[in-house]
Amino acid sequence: MIKIAPSILSADFANLEREVHRISSADWVHVDVMDGAFVPNITIGVPVVKSLRRCTDMFLDVHLMIDKPVRYIEAFAQAGADLLSVHLEADHPTQIEAALQQMEQCGVKRGVALRPITKAEAILPYLEQLDLVLIMTVEPGFGGQPFLEGQLETISHVRTLIDRINPACRLEVDGGINPETAKRVVAAGADTLVAGSSVYGAPDVALAIEALRG
Ligand code: DX5
Ligand code: ZN
Repeated sequence: MIKIAPSILSADFANLEREVHRISSADWVHVDVMDGAFVPNITIGVPVVKSLRRCTDMFLDVHLMIDKPVRYIEAFAQAGADLLSVHLEADHPTQIEAALQQMEQCGVKRGVALRPITKAEAILPYLEQLDLVLIMTVEPGFGGQPFLEGQLETISHVRTLIDRINPACRLEVDGGINPETAKRVVAAGADTLVAGSSVYGAPDVALAIEALRG
């Protein structure tokens, strides 16, 4: 079953409560946290997740594009995140492992994210304990970029690894997803689709969400 996770990065930040209610026909809310170091952009942090938690029961899928994310796992979990994804490139493997352990202790679902340069096999040390693998289909940092075709191969490869090692793990894709690229990433093995500009930039948000379901 495909899940749609609109990214509020493309929403109106002055009206986030309204913007989250506009996507109520979707499955998850995707929250992009950026620190201006791991990626060039700065977006939102813990207090915003806390406020979002108070205004929606939807699943909060929090994508941490920050250096050394182990420092913030507890804070985002306490703020009300349902799932946290940490980038494999953001710290030493021992610290990625520590971040995943903290997620388990805090009772949040565990995800790892891969920049386009990172190979599918990089998930192997962690895969058995994961709830989600997030494959970037653009360079992380900004909404509205074109889909990177080369990532279809990584998606297929990660799908093979998930099916073999941990079939319950979800495979999420993020970046440049619209109704046309959605079909192709789903054919390659994705089951969870993040979309920012193609949802919030559409004249009818509910129709845009339906269009992604194919
Ligand atoms: C980019 C973010 C994405 C972004 C996707 O670094 O992780 O979640 O919002 O935006 P679109 O769907 O416009 O490519
Ligand atoms: Zn994201």
